[in-house]
Amino acid sequence: MSHSCHRTDRVEERSHRPDSLVVVSNRQPYSHEIEGDGLSVDEPAGGLTAGLDPVMRTTDGTWIAWGDGDADRSVSDEKGRVRVPPDDPSYTLRRLWLTERDVERYYAGYSNQVLWPVCHGANWTVEHAEAYFDRYRDVNERFAEAVVDTSDEGTTVWFQDYHLALAPRRVKEERDAFCMQFWHIPWPSWDGFRRLPQRTELLDGLLANDLLGFHLPSYADRFLDCAAGALDVTVDRDAREVEYRGETTTLGAFPLGIDAERHHERALTVGEGFWESFRTEHGIGPDQQVAVGVDRLDYTKGIPERLAALERLFERYPEHRGRLTYVQKAAESRTSIPAYRRLGRRVRDEVDRINHRFATERWRPIVHVEGYLDGCELAGLYRHADCALVSPLCDGMNLVALEYVASQVDTPGVLVLSELAGAHELLGEWTVSINPHATERFAEAIDEALGMGAGKRRERMDALRRIVFENDLEGWMDDVFRAAATVRG
Ligand code: F6P
Repeated sequence: MSHSCHRTDRVEERSHRPDSLVVVSNRQPYSHEIEGDGLSVDEPAGGLTAGLDPVMRTTDGTWIAWGDGDADRSVSDEKGRVRVPPDDPSYTLRRLWLTERDVERYYAGYSNQVLWPVCHGANWTVEHAEAYFDRYRDVNERFAEAVVDTSDEGTTVWFQDYHLALAPRRVKEERDAFCMQFWHIPWPSWDGFRRLPQRTELLDGLLANDLLGFHLPSYADRFLDCAAGALDVTVDRDAREVEYRGETTTLGAFPLGIDAERHHERALTVGEGFWESFRTEHGIGPDQQVAVGVDRLDYTKGIPERLAALERLFERYPEHRGRLTYVQKAAESRTSIPAYRRLGRRVRDEVDRINHRFATERWRPIVHVEGYLDGCELAGLYRHADCALVSPLCDGMNLVALEYVASQVDTPGVLVLSELAGAHELLGEWTVSINPHATERFAEAIDEALGMGAGKRRERMDALRRIVFENDLEGWMDDVFRAAATVRG
């Protein structure tokens, strides 16, 4: 199939991109680290930072983010500015310095122990939520001050994510900039959101944006419910607009995509060499089937539920013993938060227990990879996996599902996907759908995926690849900027 069918239209699409752009996010696109006697630069890791970086290069704008690299200060000027990328400086990264207390309360506290669980419908009973919120407000103000110092009237300011809900209002008080924000995680129901004592202030901050984007229409609709429930607003549900304090905020649904071409290329170029050595290193036999799971170690990703389904699979379908290896690549995340540390221990213990229960001299059912794999190695792992198990309990989108599809460059595998992931709205029809809480059915689904005939696999993967390539990161960016141009008029 051709993956470049949309490229020509896209040149025209780029005309919507703003001349003057300020991006604001918690994570930075480059971090400087001390390495031996010198310095090293960590490249953009996440899909979004990697995707926005080329846009920034063409606009020569400013990206404002938390400078968390241990050598960041030594290469930045008195305002925290450094030109990046290091090998071809073309835009400004302006770093904000956070104290340990800021990180504890703004990042680990309010962002990740209050907003994150509330938006993902998880339990949250956090002590100190009010103190966390005070610091969250302070840090948002500092981000806003940096924006004001960097922008002119009419600059497009693009906030990313839930760390920065209050900053747009502060910016608007000082500057007539065009503000937009993309919320990368789910937006909760009014019943969930109303539990937050700070709900009014959060909505007041977000409604300072001219354009507010979510992955799915349902998240935007829930936002409308919350705005109508908490504030004195006029809501136009058809147009997805909110009028508040005499200003209008337009909501939009823009499902985030990946740089599919890049993943495809990586899967092609990593070659057999990687797989042969990976397989040998982890004792995976050449004839074995492989299932893969790749996640940040986060309680929303449904990793224990997936391990329970695998255990059930080996109990109920003993023919998979000795034949299937599940490779779990889990990256540590937010380890200052007890719930994340507990999850890490639980996953390790469960893997050990299941391995102990079923392993034989020649076969280990679960390979738990805790070391670093670069983008090419990950693509190689996806490429050679007969199925991917993507089982979040709640997820804004889930880019791993998309990456797996983009990496299927030869014999196609099968995507087993939770119906609770945002990506399911896009891909669900062509996947084996599961509910991660339904262990028995999940086990059946893995069995079904592993036994699926070649024709059916090909048909489904072709359909999935069309969707993933047609809705890629470039397309997402075009959609967002086109909507911004329309709202601007
Ligand atoms: O999914 C939301 C998100 O903030 C992503 O943008 C990011 O890649 C991920 O969570 C990682 O979180 P953190 O920045 O806390 O490590």
